[in-house]
Amino acid sequence: MRAHIVTYGCQMNEYDTHAIRSELAGIGYSFVDSYKEADLVLVNTCAVRGKPVEKAQTLLGELRKEKRQRGNLTIGLIGCLAQLPEGQRMGKRFNVDIMLGPGAITQIVPAIERGRFQSFEFDNELRFYSPPPPTGSVSAHLTIMRGCNHRCTYCIVPTTRGPEVSRHAEDILNEARALADAGVVEVTLLGQNVNSYGLEPGTGVRRARLEGYPSFAELLRMVGRVGIPRVRFVTSHPINFDDDIIEAIADTPAVCRYIHLPVQSGSDRVLKRMAREYTRDFYLNRIKKIREFLPDAVISTDIIAGFPGETDEDFEETLSLYREVQYDMSYMFIYSEREGTPAANHFDDMPREVKARRLARLADLAKEISLERNQEWVNHKVEVLVQGPFDEEGMSLGHTRGNHVAVIAGNLDPGIHQAVVAHATPNRLYCIEALEDAMLDSTV
Ligand code: 5AD
Ligand code: SF4
Repeated sequence: MRAHIVTYGCQMNEYDTHAIRSELAGIGYSFVDSYKEADLVLVNTCAVRGKPVEKAQTLLGELRKEKRQRGNLTIGLIGCLAQLPEGQRMGKRFNVDIMLGPGAITQIVPAIERGRFQSFEFDNELRFYSPPPPTGSVSAHLTIMRGCNHRCTYCIVPTTRGPEVSRHAEDILNEARALADAGVVEVTLLGQNVNSYGLEPGTGVRRARLEGYPSFAELLRMVGRVGIPRVRFVTSHPINFDDDIIEAIADTPAVCRYIHLPVQSGSDRVLKRMAREYTRDFYLNRIKKIREFLPDAVISTDIIAGFPGETDEDFEETLSLYREVQYDMSYMFIYSEREGTPAANHFDDMPREVKARRLARLADLAKEISLERNQEWVNHKVEVLVQGPFDEEGMSLGHTRGNHVAVIAGNLDPGIHQAVVAHATPNRLYCIEALEDAMLDSTV
């Protein structure tokens, strides 16, 4: 039995795919790189914007054709899209056999065994997967919570992934220890809103530390002591990014000083319509605090261009906030109306050209600032986690503690290398391995 899994979307989805692979391997599946050779194809989808939905739809069209030609193909639509009416309609239209939303993927094996069109109920007492650490990999993901209790008006995630459910700290620590034992040198703690880790499902009340649910700040300190040299986390919400978290990062050497703090917009009027629960001043104050405690922090963000009703003045405020914060990097999106979200129900979308023009201006600014920020690293030492070879001959690819993409001269082994930055572009640091350290070590 051969399976092929296609994954779209966020790191949570990658983690889910990894978990599903180990479940499938457990019942005898092997994995192939093309759906042409597979008996089972799973499409792990993302529904956060229109583009990944279109991609899934195109692929389902191809799979339907393949299935008609040879008959013996089981198709599964899993992940966020499967949780939505839009996905259910698509499932029927493309003759999909298995539908599983992200809240029910623990049901993957029974679903395959039954193998007919079906949906599973959302599992609020979600059991978490604890897949074995990836073999030979230097980095790993570790889910600490799922779902989101916020209600940003543009966002489909609270519908697809449900309310927040946190995983017991002891399970998290056990998994982190297993990763450390397996030689993993970087772990990313995952969740839609990791900062609010430890809330009781349903009530949203903070659980007691004695019950095994410390605060996120405490959890960071605990994971930081496990012995994995790099600990990261995504993603954060500014309203929950409190001083304790900043202090925990500052006090815990293993925690990377890379902070992804999505702002979405620099205009108070737009933030209010997005129901982001904070103002521009509140956000800037968080940044000030980060810079005070972590002067060397690398900061990135998410921004949406063209939210309904965003005026030119609103957009100028986003640009001015961007300049003020001096982000090292950013993820920018054109607003994409999602069926069933409050924004789609209450606000009128605007012409795509306006959104596209704004995104292009934002991208220009981001490029200019990233280049300036990256050039400041030239001639400075960075720690590069090499993952493997780079496209160009004789070069390796990795990333710094600050999450910069780093290209480093030489065919280096995967793992941590000390390097000096020789040249910078807006999205890369080109480095040379710092040999002095090796020489120092060899004289000791
Ligand atoms: N349109 C555009 N971008 C969106 N995001 C979430 N929902 C939408 C949407 N409907 C972006 C936000 C979020 C990131 C993961 O995706 O910026 O932080
Ligand atoms: Fe979506 Fe907002 Fe929750 Fe992030 S915090 S997942 S943007 S609702």
